[in-house]
Amino acid sequence: MYSDVSIAGDPLALPHLLPPVPQHPSTVAEFAGLARSIAADRARWAPLVRYDATTRWYARLQTGPGYEVWLLSWVPGQSSGLHDHGRSSGVLTVLQGELTERALSAGSGEVRRTLVPGGQRTFAPGYLHEVVNDSLEPAVSLHVYFPGLTEMTPYAACTAPSAHEPAQESVRG
Ligand SMILES: [Fe+2]
Repeated sequence: MYSDVSIAGDPLALPHLLPPVPQHPSTVAEFAGLARSIAADRARWAPLVRYDATTRWYARLQTGPGYEVWLLSWVPGQSSGLHDHGRSSGVLTVLQGELTERALSAGSGEVRRTLVPGGQRTFAPGYLHEVVNDSLEPAVSLHVYFPGLTEMTPYAACTAPSAHEPAQESVRG
């Protein structure tokens, strides 16, 4: 059955009929898409990676209205420490190697996940986690924060969300 507004030929060949491609992401799906597109563009991020055994290395890869993209490296044993992300939401993607995430919430308690390239973790404000390189190889990760990360509260090591005690040091992860 034909609609009275059917289009002859290939609609994709008519760019003016397609929704405009946003210059900057503004939805969670678009931020996740941005992370996927950067992850797939190895030539863009691989030359920037540095491994630092004394401190976790990070670099701001991109900024836009209301968001930031960070590149982090992790040598074996390096950890973010337990932290939240202030009022930011985020997308976490492993680009190379393997990371272990320990997330804490009042509802689910402690959940551990192994993060590998190809997967994505999306989180909302208030998300509490620790990321560690428990493997024997260096790892690289990509972090999109929206809005940009202006505050991050580290927590003393604990196992129950109700027991969180903010610590004083600064971390990123
Ligand atoms: Fe984090």
